[in-house]
Amino acid sequence: MPLTGFAQTTIPLESDRFAIVLHTDKQNYLHMVYCGERLNRPDEYKHIAATFRFPGDNSGIYSNAYTPAGTWNLAEPAIELIHNDGNPSLDLKYVSHKTTPIDANVTETAVLVADPVYKVSVTLYYKVWKKENVFEQWSEIRNDEKGPVVLNKYASANLFFTNKDFYLTTFQGQYLKEMQPMEEKLLQGMKTVDSKLGTRAMLLGTPNFMVSFGQPARENSGMVMLGQLAWSGNYKLDFDIDSYQNLRLIAGINPYASAYTLGNGKSFKMPSLIYTLSGNGTGQASRQLHSWARNYRVLDGNGQRLTLLNNWEATYFDFDETKLSGLIGDTKKLGADMFLLDDGWFGNKYPRNNDNAGLGDWQENVKKLPNGIGYLVKEAQKTGVKFGIWIEPEMVNPKSELYEKHPDWVIRQPERPEKYYRNQLVLDLANPDVQDFVFGVVDGLFTRNPELAFIKWDCNAVIYNAYSAWLQKNKIPQTHLYVEYVNGLYKVLQRIRAKYPKVPMMLCSGGGGRGDYELLKYFTEFWPSDDTEPIERIFLQWNYSYFFPSITTDCHVTDWGKQPIKFRVDVASMGKLGFDVVVSHLSPDDLAFCQQALKNYDSFKDIVWHGDQYRLASPYEGPVASVGYVSQDKNRAVMFTYFHSNRVVESFTSRPIRFAGLDPDKQYRLKELNVYPGKKSPVDESKVYSGSFLMNVGINPNVSAGRASVVLQITKVN
Ligand code: DGJ
Repeated sequence: MPLTGFAQTTIPLESDRFAIVLHTDKQNYLHMVYCGERLNRPDEYKHIAATFRFPGDNSGIYSNAYTPAGTWNLAEPAIELIHNDGNPSLDLKYVSHKTTPIDANVTETAVLVADPVYKVSVTLYYKVWKKENVFEQWSEIRNDEKGPVVLNKYASANLFFTNKDFYLTTFQGQYLKEMQPMEEKLLQGMKTVDSKLGTRAMLLGTPNFMVSFGQPARENSGMVMLGQLAWSGNYKLDFDIDSYQNLRLIAGINPYASAYTLGNGKSFKMPSLIYTLSGNGTGQASRQLHSWARNYRVLDGNGQRLTLLNNWEATYFDFDETKLSGLIGDTKKLGADMFLLDDGWFGNKYPRNNDNAGLGDWQENVKKLPNGIGYLVKEAQKTGVKFGIWIEPEMVNPKSELYEKHPDWVIRQPERPEKYYRNQLVLDLANPDVQDFVFGVVDGLFTRNPELAFIKWDCNAVIYNAYSAWLQKNKIPQTHLYVEYVNGLYKVLQRIRAKYPKVPMMLCSGGGGRGDYELLKYFTEFWPSDDTEPIERIFLQWNYSYFFPSITTDCHVTDWGKQPIKFRVDVASMGKLGFDVVVSHLSPDDLAFCQQALKNYDSFKDIVWHGDQYRLASPYEGPVASVGYVSQDKNRAVMFTYFHSNRVVESFTSRPIRFAGLDPDKQYRLKELNVYPGKKSPVDESKVYSGSFLMNVGINPNVSAGRASVVLQITKVN
């Protein structure tokens, strides 16, 4: 069936610059017919469908706004189910739609499609943030049949693009090498990105993607889409180029081992696909997403964050009260806001002295901490810093009292040998008792220590041997486990946030495995990678910055790498700054540098956290990388530039780097920050430049092998 016919109903979903258009054909099937610049005359949207001619009997299905399976569809479906009577066919026709303005910037459109024969319906939701050109799409299926239906596939969103030539960048990797961008031209057939890891689902690959239309993605030109499936468990993204070279995108929970039985009278809400569209390349797309995330999504996205000293790499499991009191003193000496106590503070029958025991037993180890956490919190208070603590409440070591008491709380195949990831197993968050327990870990800590200022929530294992004793006992299919685990986690987090709405919490997952826009509703920040080697970090932070604003990205100075402390601090200052070093091992000059750098960070952190980010020079394109941040009023900016390769290519460093985002008519002065003690900056602070000069001619921070990192402050002259 051709994609022609007369539009019965046209549903434009418009942002300030873009429009996605749905329309129904003569048979009342709902199609997505357009994604592009919004039209000046909205009455013309109804003519779009008739301008395309894709002949062939099955072609009309390609553009389906939510492709069902089992009737005349021969393409990858968005939804596939078995009805209560065992029939596997689904047909979905348009019934109605409603657009609700939420405020001046946000609208939500709900489109109801239903099977004309069976009592199953799906509501397709489209939420649009106009100014940010951000779209959020999810679906909700309802079963009004006489008994349960089984959902074999249940995607969140199904999109269709008729633009020509699609380039896809996915962000894959592995532990210590997360978020590696891989760009390819999509050719006919299907490219799938997925995870089957259960929890810490993004360890090997992420649900973040970039689609560039017509050409490979560029930073400052071209139409691009940056997107993410906001789901913290198994996900699946299908990029399907059809036989007419159109792109079909189907994104949702991974159907792998996850057939879901939906009871009659029940609905199931799928997670959100979140994306932004830009006509000016990835730079603008990222800024849109950052601004949306800060204003609408991330917990306290426009708020403050705490700089910190973490003891993990300073002590690992080897500490006691005296040592920690010393580190609390060091936090103050350094000038950070908070001391963060990491792993190893708990477990008595099985002390947590390494990673093979104690996980799950959240009582202070009496040998290490005879006076408990409360004593340390008070010590911190006396010293004038805040105190934060590490937990990993979803996990258990088999060598723990928790495991001994509640083997049925653990995800494991009872008839098979256990298989461990980092010597641990995952607790069964489908089980409400386990949800209570996990909530209780956090609640107990805050109840006993109301001054606790921060939680680092770790998650270091994948789900092996997926099996839930609780689901079995309650006669719920085992194939619900992956989904109910994630929903259980969200339930716990909702309870925590109802009681402790603002306490900052960091998502950690041995690096990289977690950090998505569903979890970031409850967390203020995340740990992008255990790899803190600063050159690797330039690349990693660059890649994360496509999707996440700097305020969410925790960056710690550690002893990784051979670069001097200045280089390491400068790189970490591009995100939320922390330290994980032995302060007493720093040379007097290094210490003085760090103390001054923390003061400098305090002076510009509002720009890094709340300003607009500009990726100025890509580390992938030469030995120099540069990133700038500009305050919303364009009066202040900060520029970080690095010489990251020893493959000296003079031409790269001899040219200025064009800055961006300033007001061309304002006048600015430059000042070099984070100058190492005893060094002199070549930057002439008396010179005044127009924004126009800095953006068209540029700035040369004069980086070289001997001057490998430079931080410049750019301030408007009054
Ligand atoms: C993995 C994290 O990434 C580290 O920062 C540290 O918290 C360890 N877990 C503790 O076990």
